[in-house]
Amino acid sequence: MSQARQIVGALVFYGRFAASFSQVGYLVRRLFWPTFRPNFHGQHWLVTGASGGLGRQMVWAALKGGATVTAAARSDIKLGELATAAAAEGLSGLEIERCDFTSMNETRQLIERLSSRGRRIDVLMNNVGVMNDTLSMTAENLEASFASNLLAHYVLTEGLIERGALRRDSAVINITSGGAYSVPLSTALLNITSPTQFNGVVAYAAHKRAQIALTSFWRERHRETGVEFYVMHPGWADTAGVQRSLPRFRKLFKPVLRDARSGADTALWLAAHRPSQPSHELVWFDRKIRAAHAFAYTRATKETPADLANYLASISRSSVRDDK
Ligand SMILES: NC(=O)c1ccc[n+]([C@@H]2O[C@H](COP(=O)([O-])OP(=O)(O)OC[C@H]3O[C@@H](n4cnc5c(N)ncnc54)[C@H](OP(=O)(O)O)[C@@H]3O)[C@@H](O)[C@H]2O)c1
Repeated sequence: MSQARQIVGALVFYGRFAASFSQVGYLVRRLFWPTFRPNFHGQHWLVTGASGGLGRQMVWAALKGGATVTAAARSDIKLGELATAAAAEGLSGLEIERCDFTSMNETRQLIERLSSRGRRIDVLMNNVGVMNDTLSMTAENLEASFASNLLAHYVLTEGLIERGALRRDSAVINITSGGAYSVPLSTALLNITSPTQFNGVVAYAAHKRAQIALTSFWRERHRETGVEFYVMHPGWADTAGVQRSLPRFRKLFKPVLRDARSGADTALWLAAHRPSQPSHELVWFDRKIRAAHAFAYTRATKETPADLANYLASISRSSVRDDK
């Protein structure tokens, strides 16, 4: 694509969503929301990517609401800081688990540890997600952002369901991005392992589009389990991830970016309210169901959510073989 077309595309995209996805959209909508004091007593949560940004906010809100929380992230130091900060605020009920979600081996070990303790989960926040500038490959021969943004969510959720570790009335909440609105569903875009073809922004958008499709697939596939599957996007929140991956975007929009609390609001609201929803593809944003597509061209795909699930199942099986 020429640079001029990319610039025009970005202007159309950001122009369309700026008011809604920023703190302005959140503050205006909030005027019409009833007060919300979550009560998560008696629940156990698992939050991935929990040591910073929106994940940390989710951990905090869950602890304050009375839940016990397993916070999973890759840095022992940051997890230690999280535990220290929780203790300093007098928040009990935090358990930390180190897991690098770019590794399917580590993700499976986490599933084993959690299920062997017999702990049953009420809320799974599939939050971990990154946008990488350059291609990074994992020891299991996967493109790293694909591994953490999508495959780990698939492996973790399917693994926990298989072991009966999600309660019958639990909620799985997948954190996608408005970036999903820029691409159609395409398995060919998910695990790009060639340095000349890798584009971090496109890869991220493709993973986020796939999360929307995967959520609608799970709703059908696991209907019998009683688990409710949601997918939400947070708008644009000023987190370390945005600072690292989108410095120019952040500079431009900094005055109107959401704080982590506003970004995490809908995920927490879903966990507290568990609203019913239709089975077709959709996205929750600012406490409402929104369309899964904003532009006609992203509907143009021959692939279905079931094709995506087959693709993830197959690549997840081969990651077990590569690991041996
Ligand atoms: N912020 C936004 O405006 C925005 C917009 C749309 C969607 N989202 C989505 O919201 C989610 C959270 O984003 P964020 O902005 O809060 O990101 P963030 O500030 O980068 O925080 C991500 C968290 O995940 C952890 N993490 C990253 N890679 C990991 C891995 N491989 N294994 C384990 N932990 C890992 C990070 O730990 P380290 O510090 O050790 O890396 C950090 O705790 C993501 O799925 C993102 O795509 C965010």
